[in-house]
Amino acid sequence: MPDHGFETLAIHAGQDPDTATGAVVVPIHATSTYQQDGVGGLRGGYEYSRSANPTRSALEECLAALEAGSRGLAFASGLAAEDCLLRAVCRPGDHVVIPDDAYGGTFRLFARVLERWGLSWTAASLDDVDAVRAAVRPGETKIVWCETPTNPLLGVADIAALSGIARDAGALLAVDNTFASAYLQQPLALGADVVMHSTTKYMGGHSDVVGGALVVADVELGERLTYHQNAMGAVPGPFDSWLVMRGLKTLAVRMERHCDNAERVVELLRAHDAVTHVLYPGLAEHPGHEVAEKQMRRFGGMVSFRVRGGEEAAVAVCNRARLFILAESLGGVESLIEHPGRMTHASAAGSPLEVPGDLVRLSVGIETIDDLLADLTQALAEA
Ligand SMILES: Cc1ncc(COP(=O)(O)O)c(C=O)c1O
Repeated sequence: MPDHGFETLAIHAGQDPDTATGAVVVPIHATSTYQQDGVGGLRGGYEYSRSANPTRSALEECLAALEAGSRGLAFASGLAAEDCLLRAVCRPGDHVVIPDDAYGGTFRLFARVLERWGLSWTAASLDDVDAVRAAVRPGETKIVWCETPTNPLLGVADIAALSGIARDAGALLAVDNTFASAYLQQPLALGADVVMHSTTKYMGGHSDVVGGALVVADVELGERLTYHQNAMGAVPGPFDSWLVMRGLKTLAVRMERHCDNAERVVELLRAHDAVTHVLYPGLAEHPGHEVAEKQMRRFGGMVSFRVRGGEEAAVAVCNRARLFILAESLGGVESLIEHPGRMTHASAAGSPLEVPGDLVRLSVGIETIDDLLADLTQALAEA
């Protein structure tokens, strides 16, 4: 469906009415295996649900359409998607460049799992193009791993500039697009080779499923990843695939409201005495604002801020919030608050990716904005 708009693709790509019954919504194909018409006589190419399942195939087609790639692949989690990509592309002895601010679990995968497997890494500040160029080792670096905006400091990397550096070094640029979602940012169009999502977040959008995705432009890379997806086996079941697909249908309208609400939250935080810094790429004074403006449709629903009273005060703000639920994860319709240093990024303590103790991260949901502002005002009152 090449000529259709994003919202149309989100609702229709891969989701034609069911040919057997006319069902308008893709059925949940709860089956592990498929009858063959004689040995090797597959109907529609399905033989076993680790390799392919029609509900998952519909999701994968939709993911490819939304990121304008040639192939979409769905996984049991974002980390399963990352692991599949890294082990499909790299071998022991290879090198990767990773961001000096990223999701703590991504860092843990590189530093505690794949390093033992023989993959070395260098952390670089991705908003500094020269630092990335210096970190890349031509011939040895196989992937430049980019997260933009970053979790939790909301740093911004210039995807087009990094894709040039990666290409010159013979490496792939992989972009974790979880914070922006496919609606706000399209990394493949900016020169990235692979887009990765934790579909647990905005793509699913309702905090009811854990999932991951990869989308690639190159057909051969898509085939290599499909082979590894089946060979490694970390696939989502049909119900989880269906939940993500249902979430995608409303991604565009949800993201617009997430952005509207986040902008109002940023206004409140900037004017508050208890807050020393507000981290949001939409702010003109954000160091990555110009790049974000160039490569993002809007600036997203994630907002981080630093509390004047230090770590204990930041923890107390998290504990006092009521409507903002104290929880890990992000990107759902409900607002969440967390202390990255003690929660999502605890595994990065003592590493180049350690986060400041006075930092609070908000995932601004789509509730009535006045209720969100009132809750933050009371949570910050004693800070
Ligand atoms: C930016 C980012 N990337 C990747 C992941 C990992 O995804 P999952 O939790 O679905 O494995 C997360 C999870 O929080 C994340 O925030």
